[in-house]
Amino acid sequence: MEQKFTVKLGDTNLGISKIGVGAWAWGSRILWGYGKDYTEADLVSVYEESLKSGVNFFDTAEIYGMGNSEEILGRCIRESKTNISPVIATKFFPFPWRFGRNALRQALAGSLKRLGLNKVELYQIHQPINVNKWVNAIADVYEEGLIGAIGVSNYNPEQLKRAHDILGNRGIKLASNQIQYSLIYREHESNGLLKLCKELKVAFLAYSPIAQGVLTGKYTPQNPPRGILRSRRYRRTVLERLQPLIKVMTEVSEENGGKTLAQTALNWILSKGAIPVVGAKNIIQIKDNVAALDWQLSDKDVGKLDDASRI
Ligand SMILES: NC(=O)c1ccc[n+]([C@@H]2O[C@H](COP(=O)([O-])OP(=O)(O)OC[C@H]3O[C@@H](n4cnc5c(N)ncnc54)[C@H](OP(=O)(O)O)[C@@H]3O)[C@@H](O)[C@H]2O)c1
Repeated sequence: MEQKFTVKLGDTNLGISKIGVGAWAWGSRILWGYGKDYTEADLVSVYEESLKSGVNFFDTAEIYGMGNSEEILGRCIRESKTNISPVIATKFFPFPWRFGRNALRQALAGSLKRLGLNKVELYQIHQPINVNKWVNAIADVYEEGLIGAIGVSNYNPEQLKRAHDILGNRGIKLASNQIQYSLIYREHESNGLLKLCKELKVAFLAYSPIAQGVLTGKYTPQNPPRGILRSRRYRRTVLERLQPLIKVMTEVSEENGGKTLAQTALNWILSKGAIPVVGAKNIIQIKDNVAALDWQLSDKDVGKLDDASRI
């Protein structure tokens, strides 16, 4: 299992698994149906199974479940039956009412309290708002040793370069940019972000890598996802347009020995040099997702998926 911990996060010395586990849905009742479809016991099993199978990187945020996600993750860490240490990433949200640079230090203190940790390995700025101010503020807490590495999220090429340069002037590396990327969201290939991240040695963390469950093939025009978030984003017409891609994904998955579509979607991201951060609500989903690390798509299959996803 050791071989799965083989990527360095960007140009830092922080070793993480090639796939990360996203905790947006952890404790989020309104957006994700926490408490109905899945419970804390399911999430504990996701946490334990991840570590057991070689996946040690967990991504949360202060706003997920209004703090519940960090609290649940904190309990998982404290009560874990494994002796494997996780790598924890969380995020600061630059709300417009947060003024002074000290607001970031206070937000970090809140996250650390909920997580029950003295330090997080990766602290990220969730959105590119007031880039100069918040990048300098996060550099302050880095210099104080409160975080192991600095990341940003949803930064476009210009914002990424700016953050990279601000930190560079203070002798600090920008470790990562977390951004939406999947077979149905490939904008960052054409806008140059993926390339820029490679050039600057900034890890590209791909969020919503299975398009919030849609790329598993389980949601169809006849069976669309429920809930306020996904029912709007993945309407019947959108799902209809995706069916040719789902068909090719199904063929590729079958030709690779009966893999699942989730694994094919995650493998495609790995083939682009990105690190997928994928959500899971139960042990079945995490086992499925983690198994994407056990095999690799051929260049030919990647090409087929590239073509089918140009829609
Ligand atoms: N930085 C940001 O702005 C930002 C934004 C979004 C996400 N993120 C991060 O990225 C992570 C992942 O993104 P995401 O949660 O939006 O989407 P995702 O990982 O593409 O999809 C996760 C959802 O897909 C379903 N699923 C997962 N594995 C499955 C499997 N093997 N088979 C069938 N269904 C499966 C589950 O929902 P159902 O069972 O309900 O279908 C699960 O909640 C988040 O948790 C968060 O950490 C960051």
